[in-house]
Amino acid sequence: MKGVILAGGNATRLRPLTWVTNKHLLPIYDKPMIFYPLEAMARAGIKDVLVITGPSHSGSFINLLKSGKDFNLRLSYEIQEEAGGIAQAINLACDFSDNDKILVILGDNIFTQSLKPDVDEFEKIAKGAVVYGKHMATESKQYGVIEVKDGKVVSIEEKPQKPKSDIGQTGIYMYDGRVFDFIKKQNPSTRGELEVTDLNNKYVEEGTMICKILTSWWVDAGTSFDELLRANVLVAKEIKKE
Ligand code: DAU
Repeated sequence: MKGVILAGGNATRLRPLTWVTNKHLLPIYDKPMIFYPLEAMARAGIKDVLVITGPSHSGSFINLLKSGKDFNLRLSYEIQEEAGGIAQAINLACDFSDNDKILVILGDNIFTQSLKPDVDEFEKIAKGAVVYGKHMATESKQYGVIEVKDGKVVSIEEKPQKPKSDIGQTGIYMYDGRVFDFIKKQNPSTRGELEVTDLNNKYVEEGTMICKILTSWWVDAGTSFDELLRANVLVAKEIKKE
């Protein structure tokens, strides 16, 4: 399986922090944000990772991460010319993936769990996808919301007014090689983006979407200043525990 990390987008919710830099280069305690999904890839046993970013700060990513040797990874880079949505960005990994399965991590997702057992299990499955969900106390409507019945995913709704469950969709996904065929058939949403939720629902409709629940803490550090701060505090606590 190959890895794909998305680090594009405009990060409007974190302005003015993101006027002159890319969100994924901001610090989370003692490291730039992008280090955390890269370390998650290494923990998952992935070797080849594509980093997708926008044109404005792509040079900074190469300066910072170089070949990926320091992470025990082989890094490649791709530019998303305009922030046309998460699924549009994933589509840029088509040549890189070369029909292999892919593990996608959104670059602002910070968590400690090892994905290795699930990656190994997914390697053996003939077709389908995995979405990681997280049980959330109150705030699930800020995210995609996953509805599960009798162990099956029945719907995923993007930031719904009335969430059908407390399971938030994280930014961690695994897809089979058909993912690019699904994206090519997708239409932009009302906000003009190719949405990851629409993509995931293609697998839901087919009955091949598996929802795994993350048990470690998880933060989408790009959601707000409070979530960015929470990520910093959780990482600091983790380090001091060691
Ligand atoms: O983190 C989990 C959430 O991520 C999910 O619950 C939502 O269902 C999903 O739509 C997404 O929501 P966000 O509002 O957090 O998406 P955001 O626009 O912040 O983008 C997430 C990451 O993807 C971020 O690291 C930047 C990257 N990205 C985003 C867009 C729109 C790109 O690389 N290119 C893009 O065009």
